[in-house]
Amino acid sequence: MGKLEGRVAIVTGSGRGIGAGVARLLAREGASVVVNDLGVALDGSSPDSTPAQQVVNDIKAAGGQAVANYNDIAELGSAEQLIRQAIDSFGKLDILVNVAGILRDRMLFNMSEQEWDAVIRVHLKGTFNTSRHAAAYWREQRNPEGHFRLINFTSGSGLHGAPGQPNYAAAKMGIVGFTYSCANALARYGVTSNAIAPGAATRMTESIPDQRRRSPQDGDERAPENVAPAVAFLASEGADWCNGQVISARGYEIGLYSKPQLLSQIVGTGPWDRDLDKTFDLLEHAFRPLVTGQGGAFAPAPAPQPAQAR
Ligand SMILES: NC(=O)c1ccc[n+]([C@@H]2O[C@H](COP(=O)([O-])OP(=O)(O)OC[C@H]3O[C@@H](n4cnc5c(N)ncnc54)[C@H](O)[C@@H]3O)[C@@H](O)[C@H]2O)c1
Repeated sequence: MGKLEGRVAIVTGSGRGIGAGVARLLAREGASVVVNDLGVALDGSSPDSTPAQQVVNDIKAAGGQAVANYNDIAELGSAEQLIRQAIDSFGKLDILVNVAGILRDRMLFNMSEQEWDAVIRVHLKGTFNTSRHAAAYWREQRNPEGHFRLINFTSGSGLHGAPGQPNYAAAKMGIVGFTYSCANALARYGVTSNAIAPGAATRMTESIPDQRRRSPQDGDERAPENVAPAVAFLASEGADWCNGQVISARGYEIGLYSKPQLLSQIVGTGPWDRDLDKTFDLLEHAFRPLVTGQGGAFAPAPAPQPAQAR
């Protein structure tokens, strides 16, 4: 008996890379899967139906159930049609995994409006589009015990601030905020919402010079299939307790990110501009040791400090 027997899943961007690994594992564990992929090049150009169809063929050849969908998830109507296809093909929808993505890397000072818009459109708007229609469907089910699952893909690029990917980092952190909002809004309808920050050797990472596969052995450990088990876990009915979390999955490591938290604060008794010298001193005294002592703003979070009163 598979771990996802009888469940119905949509995996966007599952014609290649990490998404394909997720679709295959969900199907192997008994889920019926809608394999969505526009089949585009890394920059989002040149659509092609071959990748999604190939994954569906593989799943069926292995004895699983799958149908292909070639829609652009960045189009609201196409995303709605994708959700409808799952329900029409398999009778319901339990799991939505938003994996689809593109890259248009450029340093901020050279980035065009078009490069910014294209990446925000696919990652952030695409994640909204599919989730919005899935959420409306789950709300209609009126089943708080439904074990419904929204699983979005974020990135270390946003969580740690990749300098050459301002568009992608912004979209991926937007997805984190979106996931937290969904976690709070949809729990009452039986939906958990979590995000995955993956790491794998795919055409996406091959395009980034310092992340290229370094050896065949490295390639095996960083195989895209290694991300899928963490997704399958979140998708399973037993993972109701896990909501509003960011999980990292790369190679043979699966981790849990902390949520942003207030580390320290100064509390005043009146407007801060009454004595700016004092305000500046207080801010430096309270925050500088935390920022510099931990190796900078992106170092692991230290334990919360007691408030410094004014
Ligand atoms: N590979 C990594 O190490 C890594 C790291 C961090 C985050 N990610 C994220 O993981 C996800 C998968 O990345 P990957 O490395 O497998 O990339 P990939 O390029 O191999 O696969 C992405 C797939 O999304 C599809 N796609 C793109 N735009 C689409 C659209 N509008 N509608 C439908 N499908 C579309 C593409 O055709 C492609 O098959 C992405 O969201 C990516 O940002 C990957």
